[in-house]
This record gives sequence, structure tokens and C-alpha cells, in this order.
Amino acid sequence: MIQATSSTSVSIESPSNALAGAGAPAVATSTAAAGPKKQTFNFDQVHPPPASQYQLFESTARPLVSRFLEGFNCTVLAYGQTSSGKTYTMTGVDLDSDPSDPNTGMGIVPRAVSSIFLTARKTKEERGTSWGYNLKASFIEIYNEDLIDLLSLDDPAGTRREVQIREDKEGHIIWGGLREVNVKNTYEVMRSVSMISPAAFEILIQSQQSSEERNIPPANQ
Ligand SMILES: Nc1ncnc2c1ncn2[C@@H]1O[C@H](COP(=O)(O)OP(=O)(O)OP(=O)(O)O)[C@@H](O)[C@H]1O
Ligand SMILES: [Mg+2]
Repeated sequence: MIQATSSTSVSIESPSNALAGAGAPAVATSTAAAGPKKQTFNFDQVHPPPASQYQLFESTARPLVSRFLEGFNCTVLAYGQTSSGKTYTMTGVDLDSDPSDPNTGMGIVPRAVSSIFLTARKTKEERGTSWGYNLKASFIEIYNEDLIDLLSLDDPAGTRREVQIREDKEGHIIWGGLREVNVKNTYEVMRSVSMISPAAFEILIQSQQSSEERNIPPANQ
């Protein structure tokens, strides 16, 4: 039984000693008394079941979106056993609704993508011709240990590209054969979202400004 005990901790009660195995994280503290075993784990943030998709996005992914638009690499990873809510959290429901609406069930990816497009458009309006941007996305699904390029399903030939993971000389991870496609709005990105298998979605922003305007700070919210 898992329970949120504060905004930074959860407790796990187990009838056996199963949690005391080698896989238990080092931060756990436990009560040694006989009977049900209770352990507490501490995290930066803990969100209880009533937390909305909007609240979760605002407190976890929103700051990363801002950092991304400043030029930093950012990753949001959902990890957990089957049916724990990874797809619900990352993709969510109501994918055709307004991503800025706090009351819809949209998950982190559509809200983050929409927020990136909105900010890039606003920045373009403010800076005019001195600033330009280009957004590219790639989307890969892991299915039965095969890597499937979800965006390659748009190929006119209808063939799925074979994607391979390898490392270059410097140890950078390379997704060989993965398509990066230009995207113009949230809808274009979200129509490829898979609801079933583990998937990795990546979005890249390239921006440039004219040489006379170099003193303008980078895009930010
Ligand atoms: N916070 C939540 N509120 C309401 N329903 C939820 C919540 N999280 C998950 N669910 C529901 O629980 C079920 C399982 O969730 P989900 O499919 O997201 O799990 P998963 O971790 O992606 O599982 P798998 O590893 O099998 O892909 C779904 O029916 C989902 O709608
Ligand atoms: Mg899932």
C-alpha cells in the first residue's frame, strides 16, 4: 500500500520483508517492529492521486520548458510498473481540447508542446524579422524490443523505418535512421502519439537572430 505522507514523501506498507531486498533505494527508512513493514521514501515533489494533470505539468515540466527555450537539454521520464499511470501522465486524455485549459485531462507532452509553440510564436511577434525559429520533432516507440519511428508512418510509401541505437566516438547516443520532421503546431505533433507502448518524444528548437540584434536575450516565458 503506497501513500503520500507529505508533499515530499511517500510511505509504503508491506506485509512481508519483500521491500528490504537489494533493490530498495538507499534513502528508505523503515520501522523494525514486527508486523507490517513500513518504509518512507523522500522525493523533491510528491503529488497525491487528486492532483490534476495541469497541476502536475505546472510544477514539474513547465520549468523545464522554460529552460529548454533558453537552450538547455531537458528530459521528462515516466517510470513505473505496468498500469501505474505513465501513459496517462505523459499523454493523458482529451487530446483535442485546449492545452492551456487547467480542467482537461491532457498530459505533459501535449501541454509542453503547446507551451513551446506559444512561446516561440510570442517571441517571434515581439522580435519581428530579427529572430527566427524552426521546430523539429522525432517520436520513437519501443514495441516488443523493436524501435519504431512513429513519424515515419507518414511516409508516402507507408514503410516503417528501422531505427538503431548506437554510440559515437565521444559516447553520444545516436538514433540511427530516426526521422526529424518540421512541425508547425501541437496538432501535427500529437496525432502520432501512441497510447500503448513505451515511447520517446523529442523536440528540437533552432533559433537564430540577425547580427545587429545579438544583445537580445534568448527566448523565455
Ligand atoms: N492519475 C490518474 N487518474 C485517473 N486515472 C488514472 C490515473 N493514472 C492512471 N489512470 C488510469 O489507470 C489505467 C492505467 O494507466 P496507464 O495506461 O497510464 O498505465 P501505464 O503505466 O502506461 O501502463 P503500461 O506500462 O501498461 O503502459 C488507465 O486506465 C488510466 O486511465
Ligand atoms: Mg503505457
